[in-house]
Amino acid sequence: MSAIDRPSGQQTKTYESAFMKACRREPVPHTPVWFMRQAGRSLPEYLKAREGIPMLESCMRPELVTEITLQPVRRHKVDAAIYFSDIVVPLKAIGLDLDIKPGVGPVVAEPVRTRADLARLRDLTPDDVWYVTEAMGLLTAELGQTPLIGFAGAPFTLASYLVEGGPSRNHEHTKAMMYGDPQLWADLLDRLADITAAFLKVQIEAGASAVQLFDSWVGALSPADYRRSVQPASAKVFDAVAGYGVPRIHFGVGTGELLGAMGEAGADVVGVDWRVPLDEAARRVGPGKALQGNLDPAVLFAPPSAVEAKADEVLAAAAGLEGHVFNLGHGVLPSMDPDALSRLVAYVHERTAG
Ligand code: CP3
Repeated sequence: MSAIDRPSGQQTKTYESAFMKACRREPVPHTPVWFMRQAGRSLPEYLKAREGIPMLESCMRPELVTEITLQPVRRHKVDAAIYFSDIVVPLKAIGLDLDIKPGVGPVVAEPVRTRADLARLRDLTPDDVWYVTEAMGLLTAELGQTPLIGFAGAPFTLASYLVEGGPSRNHEHTKAMMYGDPQLWADLLDRLADITAAFLKVQIEAGASAVQLFDSWVGALSPADYRRSVQPASAKVFDAVAGYGVPRIHFGVGTGELLGAMGEAGADVVGVDWRVPLDEAARRVGPGKALQGNLDPAVLFAPPSAVEAKADEVLAAAAGLEGHVFNLGHGVLPSMDPDALSRLVAYVHERTAG
């Protein structure tokens, strides 16, 4: 029995879409496709809309968010929209001093490293992110039957930015806290789980048809450390939104060894990067969950015939799955040719129709 029940309200409009059916592991008219980071610098219309407006400020303007979220849906004919925002938006909304530096990523003015620092992580209320509710209202009206995916950063990935103070290759300070002061670490992740759950609830109540929890950097951990130090907080987030009946997607990069444990955290759909074929990923995740993925984004730089051959490999590996949402194994890269992405959507639809 699927945990995803028939919902009420806005989500009923999108209930019969291919994307929602695939998430529920029901038969689909074609394999649904969307791309992580489908809105962004690969699109000239995005660059134009964002001209002169800093990233975080653009996330707080409902009309601009609506326009940018719709751009890839119009252009690529993808099966779902993903809300235009960033994983650090809820942290900014509760008053943390942070910014997104072009070409770098999120940078935090005062890293969170001590118990006293935890006091800065207050609860998030819907008023803190009024612009999300407003933009989602505009978006769901425009999108009609096309589902809108809401998202948040998972506790580990958010903690990594907060503890390091910015992007990190080795997560030194993060792991120092995790191994050196497990109670402080657990309390930090628990705080972040509450903030994240509150943020996802705002999005679902504003009309998101599905939510994705990005644990982009959790592949840096061993399975034992993941289960002990991260899974409880991620599970808390998934549990908090379980009652809404919307599909919950969980994704991370380099998580081949963690796929089973990430599924256990409570997701309905597990995102897979390109390093593990989907049939093998299905064995690791176990029954009862759909999979999302997993074309290597760099394949898009090859000629169309090579892209099609690699897309065929993904579809062949997914052939025995109960539910498959086609996606890249990580986000769209800014230098990608948008036409290659549009062609890929059409190709997957055509190959899987009927
Ligand atoms: O289209 C979509 O997928 C929705 C938009 C989206 C953004 N960030 C917009 C964005 C989503 C889902 C995210 C999530 C996000 N942000 C993640 C998880 C997904 C992943 O890629 O693993 C992470 C780790 C971040 C943190 C972050 N924010 C990074 C690493 C960067 C890139 C920095 C850079 O300039 O290269 C950002 C900035 C960011 N977020 C941009 C966009 C479109 C680029 C900013 C710009 O256009 O100037």
